[in-house]
Amino acid sequence: MGLLHQRHILVAISGGIAAYKGAELVRLLKKQGAVVRVILSRGAKEFITPLTLQALSGEPTHSELLDETAEAGMGHIELARWADLVVIAPGTADVIARLAQGRADDLLTTVALATPAPVAVAPAMNQQMWANEATQDNLRQLVGRGIQIIGPDAGEQACGDVGPGRLLEPDAIASALAENFESRLLEGKHVVITAGPTVEAIDPVRYLSNHSSGKMGYALARACADAGARVTLITGPVTLTPPNRVDRVPVTSAIEMHDAAMRCASNADIFIGAAAVADYRPESSAPEKLKKTAGENRVISLVQNPDIVAAVAALAQRPALVIGFAAETTELIAHAREKRHRKGLDYIVANDVSDPETTFGSDQNAVHLISEHEAHYLPLATKQVIAERIISLVAHHLGSTSPTSG
Ligand code: PMT
Repeated sequence: MGLLHQRHILVAISGGIAAYKGAELVRLLKKQGAVVRVILSRGAKEFITPLTLQALSGEPTHSELLDETAEAGMGHIELARWADLVVIAPGTADVIARLAQGRADDLLTTVALATPAPVAVAPAMNQQMWANEATQDNLRQLVGRGIQIIGPDAGEQACGDVGPGRLLEPDAIASALAENFESRLLEGKHVVITAGPTVEAIDPVRYLSNHSSGKMGYALARACADAGARVTLITGPVTLTPPNRVDRVPVTSAIEMHDAAMRCASNADIFIGAAAVADYRPESSAPEKLKKTAGENRVISLVQNPDIVAAVAALAQRPALVIGFAAETTELIAHAREKRHRKGLDYIVANDVSDPETTFGSDQNAVHLISEHEAHYLPLATKQVIAERIISLVAHHLGSTSPTSG
């Protein structure tokens, strides 16, 4: 499984002779396991048909900013949020100029402005246009805003000129895109993550649990592995495929999750409690299926489960960073701050679970990352992008952090 596997890549093709190479890029990204959607500018459609891109990507293509059918399905803001990465290939001189100006007068430029994901441009144009100071100024602006410029290549051009401005070959563009998902931020570090729900047995066939899908915790595991960490993922019962290069420790109940966390966390550099751990479990679990007694209510006595993340934070050999989540439906920030303090955590990720877009099971999330002295809002994006942001915001504290005093 490569770095692009399951990544949501939005390929925006603008109108130049190199547009046909955009089709090859889509094919290569799909081959590497990416989920690809395509934006075709009006100009691009003069060079390549939507049908070709639809066949290669397996998804409908997108062209119009205001399109009733698209807005009902996946409109421009949804597309912008769906993407883990946006690549504009080829990026003509005109598109580069319009991106530099921050224009939002077609679908491509609007999505580039609206996306929280990284944006890359693979320029392609005549060598004289490339060399023009106006183009170079525009490129400097894009680089200054963190936009990745991939290429161009130099050589013989379609117009007969020779020089820089050829679109880089699609395999080189795909490799450069993959690098976005690899960092060495956590090289040599050991990260332990809890994910998913816990399941507390009432009897052999009934249980108490919650709606956690594990997606947030698994996204964190992948982000840490991609950042070079050794990752132990202690996971409640979920249906997700674990990311590559991750040691999975399957558990069922909160007690099992607690025991696994205690075994693994004392050698770890980072502990992340993303699991939705049941606060209570039935006092005893019946060995046989409980029988219904006509006309009688049943009372199940519940006892408290251990607080796993708090126990890790209290270890004598505590990980340098202990991070929890706070799933809240009211007073998000105040409750999250109180939980961080009470549980002795370095960071807490405040998660508004009253919003169906960011709640259990969703592919997206929007969170606040809060420490004693910092607060960062991470706006709505895929859980993978949120996970990567969390990791890049906390990683630099490693080595310089001391356990929180609470
Ligand atoms: O799994 P998904 O469908 O992707 O959904 C993601 C999520 C909503 C589950 C996740 O983002 C999230 O918010 N996880 C924490 C859910 C939760 O249990 O929150 P809490 O506020 O009850 O707990 C606070 C913290 O204490 C959490 O880090 C939790 O893991 C930890 N905890 C809670 C109880 C307990 N007995 N032991 C714990 O370690």
